[in-house]
Amino acid sequence: MNTIIEPFRIKSVDPIRMSEPEERRRHLQQAEFNLFRIPAEHVIIDLLTDSGTGAMSSAQWAGMMEGDESYAGAKSYYRFHTAVENLTGIPNILPTHQGRASERLLVEALIGSGDAGRGLVVPNNAHFDTTRANIEHCNAQAIDLLTEAGLQPTLEAPFKGNMDTVALKKLLNDRAADVPFVMMTVTCNSNGGQPVSLENLRAVRAICDKYGKPLILDAARFAENSWLIRQREPGQGDRSPSAITRDMFDLCDGATISAKKDGIVNIGGVLLLRDDEMFQRASNLLILTEGFVTYGGLAGRDLEAMAIGFTEALREDYLRYRLRSVEYLGEKLLDGGVSIMQPPGGHAVYIDAEAFCSHIPREHFPGQALVCALYEHGGIRACEIGSVMLGDHAVMELVRLAIPRRTYTQSHIDYVIEVVLDLQERRKLIPGMQIIEQAPALRHFTARFAPV
Ligand code: F0G
Repeated sequence: MNTIIEPFRIKSVDPIRMSEPEERRRHLQQAEFNLFRIPAEHVIIDLLTDSGTGAMSSAQWAGMMEGDESYAGAKSYYRFHTAVENLTGIPNILPTHQGRASERLLVEALIGSGDAGRGLVVPNNAHFDTTRANIEHCNAQAIDLLTEAGLQPTLEAPFKGNMDTVALKKLLNDRAADVPFVMMTVTCNSNGGQPVSLENLRAVRAICDKYGKPLILDAARFAENSWLIRQREPGQGDRSPSAITRDMFDLCDGATISAKKDGIVNIGGVLLLRDDEMFQRASNLLILTEGFVTYGGLAGRDLEAMAIGFTEALREDYLRYRLRSVEYLGEKLLDGGVSIMQPPGGHAVYIDAEAFCSHIPREHFPGQALVCALYEHGGIRACEIGSVMLGDHAVMELVRLAIPRRTYTQSHIDYVIEVVLDLQERRKLIPGMQIIEQAPALRHFTARFAPV
């Protein structure tokens, strides 16, 4: 059969409260046009993030009941350890409460704290904002080395998450001593959830070997990356997602994982470091701020849910449905004439807000204008990834429709498509935005706006 169905039945439901545009206009005004300030119960379809918002399986819920809450050496820890070692082949594993905790430990273990990073530079295909913030926190510089193709929204290319290996070679050639480690983010969230090929990972590995640098994977969406490799990379079409995932981890010296994505849990993370000395340093830091090494700031039940989630995320029927539902949303928006980041990546569709709101200049934040309009028009909450979030680092003005895992059905997605296409008809009426008040860092969470 050709119809790809959600490979699960629903046995617990969470009601959605419907609302009218007038009510939502009021909520927008009260929230001063910042979608982070809107209570979730006033949102119809919440596409703010795919992080921690997925639905757990009945097996995961059952696992939570089995959670062993012993302080040290809980059964749940050993189950978690076995699952992650099977997945990655790396035996040095720390649980953390989420991705950014792993990032903080990584940076402190490999660079140091305070001013230790001054003069150092950490390259990545593109850093996620928390990774960048953690690196900059010790005064090191975080730089993005995406290929030219990765920065062109409408260009169809299979691996727009790839790193520009010429640029990496040049950086290491010029300033090898200043580079403590190299990172690769799979899939690359900052430019549309775009995948990285095994070929590119191997090339980056070879360069790291030449200069003796550790390669660290930001593997939040490892399963989605493995499926896109299977679909798009020559010679990978009949390999299993687990085998491809293993190849990805075999190429790295360590990894940070936010389990809130492909771990399909509401909270959790992992830090992996092959080198025993580095691992020991990170373990000591974990004990200092997160908790003992066998729970890392989580409950035993969270470790159970992660162990099961990591396995479920690699099931072929799940990945086929997951990637197809994102692709479906992208296709329908494209067919309707909406300019999106192409091809759609693993976890989200990114609308080119500058094209959608071509009457709004950059200084009036076309992305922020569009997220407000989507909310007012259809109760959809999306996320601006443009100059509000990234400031001067913004290369594109994007609006991300992130799809939580196993949470919404096709009719929810059809509703989203209808809202976006209907809004497109009247897009010239969308007002630009101005910032009334903002915080010095990560301003998108709390800034207040007003229509121009
Ligand atoms: N790395 C990537 C690629 C991410 O997308 C995220 C989180 C993190 C690290 C940090 O993980 O949230 O568990 O601390 N991304 C979320 C998002 C927040 O909406 O894309 P965390």
